[in-house]
Amino acid sequence: MGGAFAKLEKRNVDRNYQLVREIGSGQYGKVYEAVNRQTGETVALKILKLIDRQEARATIREFNIMRHVSARPNCHPGIVCYYAIFLGRHEGEQRLCVEMEYVEGEDLEKWWRRHVIQGKNLLTDAELLSMMTQVYGALTYLNAKNVAHRDIKPANIMRKPDGTLVLVDFGLSCFVRQAPGKGLLCPPQVSGSPAYVAPELYADVNHADLDNYQPADIWATGVMFYRLANVQYPFPAKNVDVMKAALAACLQRAEDGDVDSIAKFTAASRPRNRKLREVLSESLICDPTDRITAPEAMVTLGQVNLG
Ligand SMILES: Nc1ncnc2c1ncn2[C@@H]1O[C@H](COP(=O)(O)OP(=O)(O)O)[C@@H](O)[C@H]1O
Ligand SMILES: [Mg+2]
Repeated sequence: MGGAFAKLEKRNVDRNYQLVREIGSGQYGKVYEAVNRQTGETVALKILKLIDRQEARATIREFNIMRHVSARPNCHPGIVCYYAIFLGRHEGEQRLCVEMEYVEGEDLEKWWRRHVIQGKNLLTDAELLSMMTQVYGALTYLNAKNVAHRDIKPANIMRKPDGTLVLVDFGLSCFVRQAPGKGLLCPPQVSGSPAYVAPELYADVNHADLDNYQPADIWATGVMFYRLANVQYPFPAKNVDVMKAALAACLQRAEDGDVDSIAKFTAASRPRNRKLREVLSESLICDPTDRITAPEAMVTLGQVNLG
């Protein structure tokens, strides 16, 4: 894999860290709770498998973006804080590793399944306001950095016991504008979990339009909060084809001149508050150029008065 990794610091994972427990495991590798033996600090350690060149490039992109948006001591409270990136020897092999802030708690998907689904506690407007303000706030910060996350979903947001939300997993993120000296522009591919992918990304078969990616994060955020609030997606979701057809029809209506949101609310829907609904509704406008932006959402959220 050489080249791009040659400059990285080398560490021996097993000598430098005590692996406490595996927290998450995905397609790309594993995340551990670990103790840095040198500092005594509890950290999260993401250890990535490197399968091929393309994946190596994607990993370099992830790490460079982390450095750019969220390296200690300049971290945003809603974005996981990165400490170090290194080549680590682990289980007899070289792995690409990132040491980052350990976020206590569980991811939002797990918390929601336990609290809302099993516990039968629908989210209140106060909970939704707090959660939305945090996530749109983190996206406002990424906006200013010209970064698109591209995998916004509850499993990529950690929830601390006090309700603080922290965005993790920059594995698919990229720059929507050329950053000085960095060739990390968004590559032409659809990315993310199908249910959270915006209509224009399905429609733009060449994925050439970089201006689509930040609005697509807003779309995914709208899908996420609509689902968390109403325990159903804002579109028919029986299977991916049905969903894609609904999104394509909505985009078509938008191209015919209607400003059309896929989110429909009834008296029984959540959130109840008109301004909170407005943010979700405008996040789910099918035409990306009409969709609300993160800073605009923050203005509307700032006007919410739950009495
Ligand atoms: N900094 C962290 N602190 C605590 N848990 C984390 C942290 N980063 C990731 N996780 C947990 O590990 C899981 C997988 O991490 P993620 O970065 O999303 O990797 P993947 O690319 O495999 O999805 C997350 O869903 C989350 O539950
Ligand atoms: Mg993930």
